Amino acid sequence: MTSPTRRDWELPASAVTPEALFRSRRQLMRDIAAGSILAAASPLMASLAGSAFAAEADPSAHLYPVEHNPRYVGGRAITGEKFVTTYNNFYEFGSHKKISEAAQALKIRPWTVVLDGLVEKPVEIGIDDLLKKMPLEERIYRHRCVEAWSMVVPWSGFPMKALVDFAKPRAEAKYVMMETFLDPKTAPGQKQHWYPWPYVEALTMQEATHELAFLVTGAYGKPVLPQNGAPLRLAVPWKYGFKSIKSIVRFSFVSERSETFWEKVSPREYGFWANVNPEVPHPRWAQSQERVLGTSDIVRTQLYNGYAEFVADLYTGLSGEPLYM
Ligand code: MTE
Repeated sequence: MTSPTRRDWELPASAVTPEALFRSRRQLMRDIAAGSILAAASPLMASLAGSAFAAEADPSAHLYPVEHNPRYVGGRAITGEKFVTTYNNFYEFGSHKKISEAAQALKIRPWTVVLDGLVEKPVEIGIDDLLKKMPLEERIYRHRCVEAWSMVVPWSGFPMKALVDFAKPRAEAKYVMMETFLDPKTAPGQKQHWYPWPYVEALTMQEATHELAFLVTGAYGKPVLPQNGAPLRLAVPWKYGFKSIKSIVRFSFVSERSETFWEKVSPREYGFWANVNPEVPHPRWAQSQERVLGTSDIVRTQLYNGYAEFVADLYTGLSGEPLYM
């Protein structure tokens, strides 16, 4: 379906990166990584990949691209990198979509991740040491924001289950709470005291260890950029995008969860489960359709964002609760 008038988030269809073209760019990046194309080609690589941002400065750049896992397909054209890296929600850097420049202030090294709470032994680990221990792969996932726009992204990272296994939670752990960095000097949005910083999200242990729950460290065959949640971000594609917390510094295993960021901001509008459900409207807008970022397409939203065959089993006991909440 095409919208009658083009609004700012609707970009021309010509802007979409078809998967085949993306693949040939990947091959080019591999050739560059393998040294068969001169390293001096880096700026060329950035421009070919459609990004104005230089991910090569990231010390983990040599790890990418990682092996593609064909089990997870986007079902639509991959969204052009320039849209994914310039149209963002990252309230730490402003409550609008144009935060990509401001987010470059985020200092992604040193970056320490804490695993604590109901675990055998709390751990603090630097992101580069963590990356060495985790099985990196690439997956193409759909992403559906609660604001009714969507995108398809080739993320790199590792299954969250690998992190949970590494943390060794005790049997009493029922939830994993995740927390974003807190640094108002770097992230001016965190000076807006009416928001309950730091950004916090949570999953049940079943959700966190589900095969689809993915911790993102890269995108488009390179380290993930600050605006998309570097150096470590969640992707839970069957849930609204706000569950996919960015720039994580802590995973705490708990028996009772506390409220998440958006639940505190507006409990009437944003719930804990936040499973994509086209039949449950947001109090201020419908959820039956979504605008596909980088195109002028409007498509029907699917239950669990089209991942029902993977995740519906997780929610069979919850039929009394609206999945949206
Ligand atoms: N994580 C943090 N720390 N802060 C945020 O504002 N926004 C969420 C999610 N994770 C957000 C966050 C929302 S609403 C969405 S839709 C996605 O990040 C957007 O991810 P993207 O900018 O990579 O598209």
